[in-house]
Amino acid sequence: MSGKPFYITTPIYYVNDKPHLGHAYTTVAADAKARFHRLRGEAAHFLTGTDEHGQKLERAARAAGMEPLPFCDMNSAKFQELWAKLNIRFDDYIRTTEERHKRGVAELWRRVHAAGDIYLSTYAGWYAVRDEAFYAESELTDAPGGKKLAPSGAEVEWVEEPSYFFRLGKYQGALLEHYARHPEFIQPEARRNEVVRFVEGGLRDLSLSRTSFRWGIPVPGDERHVIYVWFDALGNYATAAGFAPGRGGSGLPPESPWPADQHFIGKDILRFHAVYWPAFLLSAGLPLPRQVFSHGWWTVEGQKMSKSLGNAVDPHWLIEEYGVDAIRYFLLREIPFGLDGDFSHRALIERINSDLANDLGNLLHRTLNMVKRYRGGRLQRASGEEELPEDELRAAAIAGKQTWEREMEKTNFQEGLKAAWHVVSAANKYIDATAPWELAKNRNLERRLDAVLWNAAASLRVAAAMIWPVMPQTAERIGQQLGLAENWLRAPFAELVDLRALPEALETRLGDPLFPRIEEEARAEIERKVAARIAEGEEGPAPGAMPPGLVSIEEFRRLELRAARVVEAERIPRSKNLLKIKVTLGGAPRTVVAGLARHYAPEDLLGRTVILVANLQPTRLMGMESQGMLLAASDGERLLLAGVEGEVAPGARIQ
Ligand code: MSP
Repeated sequence: MSGKPFYITTPIYYVNDKPHLGHAYTTVAADAKARFHRLRGEAAHFLTGTDEHGQKLERAARAAGMEPLPFCDMNSAKFQELWAKLNIRFDDYIRTTEERHKRGVAELWRRVHAAGDIYLSTYAGWYAVRDEAFYAESELTDAPGGKKLAPSGAEVEWVEEPSYFFRLGKYQGALLEHYARHPEFIQPEARRNEVVRFVEGGLRDLSLSRTSFRWGIPVPGDERHVIYVWFDALGNYATAAGFAPGRGGSGLPPESPWPADQHFIGKDILRFHAVYWPAFLLSAGLPLPRQVFSHGWWTVEGQKMSKSLGNAVDPHWLIEEYGVDAIRYFLLREIPFGLDGDFSHRALIERINSDLANDLGNLLHRTLNMVKRYRGGRLQRASGEEELPEDELRAAAIAGKQTWEREMEKTNFQEGLKAAWHVVSAANKYIDATAPWELAKNRNLERRLDAVLWNAAASLRVAAAMIWPVMPQTAERIGQQLGLAENWLRAPFAELVDLRALPEALETRLGDPLFPRIEEEARAEIERKVAARIAEGEEGPAPGAMPPGLVSIEEFRRLELRAARVVEAERIPRSKNLLKIKVTLGGAPRTVVAGLARHYAPEDLLGRTVILVANLQPTRLMGMESQGMLLAASDGERLLLAGVEGEVAPGARIQ
């Protein structure tokens, strides 16, 4: 590997909020793109991080009763924690409170200043703290209570203070010329046209500093001002790439990955990335990024993602419920990157059941199951089989690989994944057509049977390589079950997508199904949880009042946890998971429908003291009303009921 790596970035996320599905989306996409390049043997440099300055952050920290920096530390860690769970392999993580960043941004300011593009004046106008953006009067709408709202829906406040300004207007021509010369600079096309029209409409100079709060990088030479948070934030892409004072020339070290090859962002922050950022870079004499790719927004169950709906798609919870790769797959498969989409549990479950369980999981399982039953687990390339691999599979693999590579290159994850599935369905069809179970009945056809199974496995390996960027864990599990060497994914790319490169003999290891189907009952259970999470989200504290992830003591006390005695327990006909349990808190028993059937026999529960969430909204399950929930510890496999140490009267409060 040589030359500049493929440099890809996500936005740096505000740490006043905890990570949500929108953040996860961009980051998973950038991870998949970086992995795509690595799979092809190219160097990739993937940057993500957190945006920690500004008035919004200062206010959120104050509301939480914390100093800004410890507040940022706490919340930035939450992003890193989620990225680890989501299998995000970034190369660098930048926080705008780091020294390297602050020094770099100050240098960027000095260069823009030296270019004559910064002047001192007074800003009198509207500012939306939520967006950290200035708005013109004409952009605002009136809202009840005399409030005014920005087009984004954020409330604006009147600001009047001395401010440094950036001569944005001066760059109108240069920007338009750049867009015209580099049509790929803004993607997708429709967004590019919007930006061009916006810039053609004329650019007002941009306020670049604030004096009314302190939490930011001081303006070099005038410490009463802090640098406008977007100038600070956008600078991260260069400061993380080594842009620093005292280097002369471009300010970048020779090994710097700058310029970025792709900035992935959401459409709401396109103007900052496609207009302001290149203008700052032009002014500072730095090369421009190659592409700004603006993706769409997710709604949740058909509605704008609000706090309570966000709770129903909390990434941590989604990963626990469905597994990390199912989420990564859904996000990139469901909608074309660039368009808006709707996230619903129903659609997710459908994708899991059809694409992941039926198509991919089943291909692996049925193939290895037959290898185990008919050939003792040993895959063998039949010697002398001239037709290996067979034409239809070869054609599918070649076409699939070409489409996949072209589409992934264009950042069209959806089409790339469809191409990988093309290989999977060809292999499933091939098995149906060759019917190995028939071949296995006839000893004379043993070599043919070996050939068929080997061919199916060869397709699986190619498909696994192609899905690795999006579903790394699944690809690795397929490799393990096929019995491939641990480092199989490090083979040259041409081999990874070549059917013939499957080793001649393999000891396979049939494992659990990759993606168990989600049946009706589990689906109902999920729906119940979604409803509970939405309700919980609606009642939670106002945003900003509580550090993400924490609950107040008052909130905790609203939960009524009580010791309860089990007086009856029985299986529910047609349900593998659920038990109908009657518990008493001292008085008349109540019914709880609990997902314990795989872990406890009904008779084991009788007489036990368990912990009941006694004020949970009742819900209907399998035609019965469930009036509470039992607490249990889960390590993913086992489920162990929580109890009370020693004897206690039923109804005792747990606190
Ligand atoms: N800190 C700025 C970015 C600075 S980059 C130099 C910021 N942070 S953010 O945390 O508010 O948003 C980060 C990203 O999340 C944005 O790209 C935004 O588009 C994305 N999303 C927020 N909600 C989203 C959805 N509902 N759906 C998809 N993406 C969404 O802006």
